[in-house]
Amino acid sequence: MTNRNSIGVFDSGYGGLTILKEIVRVLPEYDYIYLGDNARTPYGTRSFEVVYRYTLEAVRKLFGMGCPLVILACNTASAKALRTIQQVDLPRMEATRRVLGVIRPSVEALASFTRNGHVGILATKGTVASESYPLEIEKLYGKEAFRITQVACPMWVPLVENNELADEGAVYFVRKYIAELMTADPQIDTVILGCTHYPLLRSLILRYLPAHVKLVEQGHIVADSLKDYLLRHPEMKERLSTEGNRHYLTTEKTELFERMAGLFMGEELRAEQIEI
Ligand code: DGL
Repeated sequence: MTNRNSIGVFDSGYGGLTILKEIVRVLPEYDYIYLGDNARTPYGTRSFEVVYRYTLEAVRKLFGMGCPLVILACNTASAKALRTIQQVDLPRMEATRRVLGVIRPSVEALASFTRNGHVGILATKGTVASESYPLEIEKLYGKEAFRITQVACPMWVPLVENNELADEGAVYFVRKYIAELMTADPQIDTVILGCTHYPLLRSLILRYLPAHVKLVEQGHIVADSLKDYLLRHPEMKERLSTEGNRHYLTTEKTELFERMAGLFMGEELRAEQIEI
């Protein structure tokens, strides 16, 4: 049974668990429904229209389960669908519910990490092509504040989704994309992992990233930003149920999801397969 008034957390697959884990650490009292669209992952190589449609379907599903607030724990969905959902769909269908993404909070936190303003973004093809990070950064800090270099890492999500985190293929593709990034701008001092799947490759990434470069993961940033959001929006905070339950949904078979997600969340968990 799911709790009414849970916080919905959505991703194309397992990646959003890197966000959920931190959110639960910071805000353990709330109820959460995690939805992974594992049957249709990856989103990063899909068109704008398809990512928007899939994301809207997931948001509707979570609203239908009672969630007043949904976090798109996916950069690709945040880049390609969030704005349209917030501006066009929400006012029409669910004016009092809210959908938040992961890009804006990451950009807000950026200034506290970089010293020289040279920033690298590693993300999916879709997020890179959307230019969401450079645009959001420009909106917040102006055109000249940072030098942004983006590199798409299309092989990283399949490595994570297939639990191939430590084999030779993973080593090859982690080295390759990091070398591309650091060659494009050797002065980079800060790298944002702009895809929620990527923290699962963290130890390999750290092995090949120059030691002085700061690696920014989004989990704690999004968690702190959600905490702050709820403080600023008591009307939303009061609507949320607080029994500390977590419910896991996947669009694929549950066995693999339970094993992978359980390992990642560090707890034994049960999932339910649903259609969206
Ligand atoms: N985890 C997602 C992101 O943050 C998407 C990965 C994918 O499905 O390609 O971009």
